[in-house]
Amino acid sequence: MLARFGVLAALACGAVNAIATISQVGSKFFDSNGDQFYIKGVAYQLTPDDPLINTQQCTLDAALMKQLGANTIRVYHVDPNGDHSGCMSTFADAGIYLIVDLDTFTTAIDPTVASWNDTQYNAYARVMDAFHSYDNTLGFFVGNEVIALANQSLAAPYIKAAARDLKAYRNTKGYRNIPVGYSAADISELRPMLQNYLACGTNSSESIDFFGLNAYEWCGDSSFSVSGYSTLNTYAQGYNIPIFFSETGCNTVRPRTFQDQSSIFGSDMSGLWSGAIIYEWINETNAYGLIEYGQDVSPTVVASGVVAGISVTGTPTPVAPDFTNLQNQWATLTPTGVKSSAYVTSTLTPPACPSSTSGGWLVQGDVALPTIGQTQGTSSAAATATGASTGTATGSAASATSTKGSASGGKEIAGMSVGLVAVMLTFVFWL
Ligand SMILES: *[C@@H]1O[C@H](CO)[C@@H](O)[C@H](O)[C@H]1NC(C)=O
Ligand SMILES: *[C@@H]1O[C@H](CO)[C@@H](O)[C@H](O)[C@H]1NC(C)=O
Ligand SMILES: *[C@@H]1O[C@H](CO)[C@@H](O)[C@H](O)[C@H]1NC(C)=O
Ligand SMILES: *[C@@H]1O[C@H](CO)[C@@H](O)[C@H](O)[C@H]1NC(C)=O
Repeated sequence: MLARFGVLAALACGAVNAIATISQVGSKFFDSNGDQFYIKGVAYQLTPDDPLINTQQCTLDAALMKQLGANTIRVYHVDPNGDHSGCMSTFADAGIYLIVDLDTFTTAIDPTVASWNDTQYNAYARVMDAFHSYDNTLGFFVGNEVIALANQSLAAPYIKAAARDLKAYRNTKGYRNIPVGYSAADISELRPMLQNYLACGTNSSESIDFFGLNAYEWCGDSSFSVSGYSTLNTYAQGYNIPIFFSETGCNTVRPRTFQDQSSIFGSDMSGLWSGAIIYEWINETNAYGLIEYGQDVSPTVVASGVVAGISVTGTPTPVAPDFTNLQNQWATLTPTGVKSSAYVTSTLTPPACPSSTSGGWLVQGDVALPTIGQTQGTSSAAATATGASTGTATGSAASATSTKGSASGGKEIAGMSVGLVAVMLTFVFWL
């Protein structure tokens, strides 16, 4: 009886999904049954505006993602005016959650003239409005690789201001406590200062709820220590909020074996990390895809449903053997973590806000965050951080950049380039 009522209520409300909601507690995610949640994700985009409006396509993809063993998608850009109910419920039915970026190409924080303004705030809030009601919305990113170079750390207070204001908006609207985080490029000069800065301070209303790292350090046959993951793991010790790979999956050695998953979900890292999102679902010119929709159709113009030569709809076909390699990895990796009832957070405290360093981190401690309408160079945050003007910042940034080649043995640098190239190719592709 109760069950039947539940179904009727679900039909009546439309947006109700029978999936446990995820919340952030301390450094972990838990589902509403009290089990720790580890992200096994894939990046899902291809179409420039919004991949979550074509229900038929989402249904085909969700079914194959379920076979892969994925439980999460990451989507970089959405149109808040679109109807997402079909895609969101088909993903929920497949047990798949969504982490969605709130920004678009036009509203993202620009690190060269960082600003946090009403246009951005309103655009981010509209995306939150569009997705908060779905039980399978896991989290929101306020930015992806806003800081893309070692000399751009002065944009960090703007990222934090965005998180502060979107968390306040969520609370004011009475939305579910969906966590708000950031997805960072893997820049060795800024480790661990960036991750610590975004989480630091005594007022958790002003810090991010989780930190994602886009890291392409582990290529082919490698190991926890050789890849550089052991260094990343050191920085995750004692971190007070969840940390996970928001992009991973180096493709410079083929076929991709996804060996790194056994460290992430195994005893090396699963005590500190909350999983990984593989870049990416649909194959593009950068050749990171796990599936293809069919033959490239090769027009040079962008037509309806077609982006510069690659079909953006169709029946997903696994890329062999990469798809199966990932599927086999994930099938054997099922950490249980801790139960929320047994999880003690009292030992966790936010990291100290880092002082500026000669090696590249330019923000001095717990600076006042910009308020809406401030732009880098005019805000108290930027002024405090640079001591005087953006001129000073440019000078120190230039010297910070020159240490890049010698930092951390080069693996991370190579990895970062791959990530950036991936993003840039994607961007060019969409133009
Ligand atoms: C707000 O920020 C965006 C993104 O950086 C920028 O394109 C836009 O010009 C800014 N708007 C105003 C009014 O400053
Ligand atoms: C914490 O930060 C929020 C957002 O900036 C602010 O509204 C609140 O007053 C702060 N709380 C304290 C105790 O400073
Ligand atoms: C992915 O697409 C690229 C560009 O079209 C192509 O070179 C590559 O062979 C494709 N990868 C697979 C595995 O099909
Ligand atoms: C930042 O570093 C890049 C190279 O990594 C350089 O091209 C750029 O000019 C630098 N920007 C500033 C403001 O120094």
